[in-house]
Amino acid sequence: MEGGGRVPWVKYGSLMSFLVVLLAVWFRPPQDAVLDGRLDTVLSSLLRAEGKVGVNNVARPKVAIGFGGCVDLIVDGVSFLNKIGISYTDQPVHHDYLENAEQLAQSFAYFFAPGAAAERFVLNDTLFNELVEGARDLPGNRWSIGGNAPVMAGRMATEGCDVLLGGSFSTDFKEVLSQHITVAGEVIDEQDIHLILEYSSGANWGSYTSRRANRYIVHSDYHNPYLASMDDFAEKLNSFKPDLLVVGGLQMMDNFPFKSGERAALLSHLADLLISSTPQIGIHFEMASFVEESIMEDLLEYVIPNADSLGMNEQELPNLLSLLKGSNITVLSDPSPRVATVLDQMREVYRILNQRYKEATADSDAGGAESRGKPLTRLHVHTLAFQAMIVTRGSQWKNTMSATAKASLTANRHVCGSNDIDPSKARLIMDDSFSISLQEGSQRIPLQDTRPVSCWDEEDYEICVAPVLVCTEVYQTAGGGDNISAAGLVLQI
Ligand SMILES: *[C@@H]1O[C@H](CO)[C@@H](O)[C@H](O)[C@H]1NC(C)=O
Ligand SMILES: *[C@@H]1O[C@H](CO)[C@@H](O)[C@H](O)[C@H]1NC(C)=O
Ligand SMILES: *[C@@H]1O[C@H](CO)[C@@H](O)[C@H](O)[C@H]1NC(C)=O
Repeated sequence: MEGGGRVPWVKYGSLMSFLVVLLAVWFRPPQDAVLDGRLDTVLSSLLRAEGKVGVNNVARPKVAIGFGGCVDLIVDGVSFLNKIGISYTDQPVHHDYLENAEQLAQSFAYFFAPGAAAERFVLNDTLFNELVEGARDLPGNRWSIGGNAPVMAGRMATEGCDVLLGGSFSTDFKEVLSQHITVAGEVIDEQDIHLILEYSSGANWGSYTSRRANRYIVHSDYHNPYLASMDDFAEKLNSFKPDLLVVGGLQMMDNFPFKSGERAALLSHLADLLISSTPQIGIHFEMASFVEESIMEDLLEYVIPNADSLGMNEQELPNLLSLLKGSNITVLSDPSPRVATVLDQMREVYRILNQRYKEATADSDAGGAESRGKPLTRLHVHTLAFQAMIVTRGSQWKNTMSATAKASLTANRHVCGSNDIDPSKARLIMDDSFSISLQEGSQRIPLQDTRPVSCWDEEDYEICVAPVLVCTEVYQTAGGGDNISAAGLVLQI
């Protein structure tokens, strides 16, 4: 009886729960809608974080940026290689520089599948001219202002700064620069062309599929490696009185056939310029793709110790760290590293460089000489999935949280080629939470949609991490690092 009495109720109950489940399924937003909602929240929260502080537009900050510049000819990498008849090779080989078409194919193959950014010097004029001619009439190609210094200058001018730009430019080139940019350097007849082979995530070349969107750059630039504008730049610096000095474009010297001792002399001259600038002015050095070990050693001697701030991507960070630890150059690293990996590498670079600074100061104190170099107080690493910054507490750099948010938004704006961010063309690829270090038992930080930039204190510095709304309809990757780094700096001056 008891059991029998319960039967209808049980039946009724199951029906009820069935209905509840049905209703739940009915009303559950489709997966995409949940994700869209999440992207909208992260986007509006990042915009709020970016907008918390503004650039001082009344007294426009003054930024001096060197060196050089070029015209970028941007093409779809795979269509281009197909068109000029450079066929696919299943033999990826790493080359420091390129002398013939086969090496170009091998080198492209090396970086294309992992989707790692690379830049190589072509030591064969005939080949390079053939490449440029082939790219000139490729449908869909585009021309744009290129080179780290002009791109960073353009971004900073757009964000409200007055810029002194060091470089030798043609009259045509100067005409398209912002009115807020003043050039220091001689006028040249023709601007060097850099050929940018872009590819999207999932692009195919032979049996290779690229894991992420990126670019492979070739150039045969005989002007920029000499930093010809340096003296003019140094002279104009005195009256310009910048609030920030930025150095980039030095990768043009990588694997360039300099005469013996020529490069070190140029970089030593640059070191003098940096040392002679007012100590209170922040100096930022933007790294790039370096593969020649001896130039990295020169940078470690002449440039990096004189910089307060460094900017780099996920390839350049392990490369620098490896060299600081006395190992070889790392040509290719994981193009999509985890937050914990990057933060550990950043902590180590920060620690080693500041340790070196302390030792150098102690040495020069002991020898009675003037102390040389500066401590590293800012390190910004831009990756596809997130932006990370280490900033020394109490240093001159302001607004680290907003700057990290701005860097992250700029990544999407640049790659999508639009100032307005469209969440339907964006994707979050950072995990829902991240560990702050690979060390066992490290804290995990959840990615909060309403407060996407996470900042916390360690030792004598603050760390901030912001997710990137990764652009899914790629317009351009080249110049991304420069736009991102410049955008981050603008809020910190
Ligand atoms: C330079 O490139 C041209 C054109 O591709 C090629 O014919 C020539 O063999 C190359 N020179 C060297 C030294 O590889
Ligand atoms: C570093 O590079 C040198 C020269 O290319 C090579 O002989 C050596 O084996 C490399 N060392 C490591 C640890 O890879
Ligand atoms: C990146 O900088 C270049 C040069 O200033 C500019 O033309 C381009 O529009 C920038 N990208 C974005 C998204 O602002």
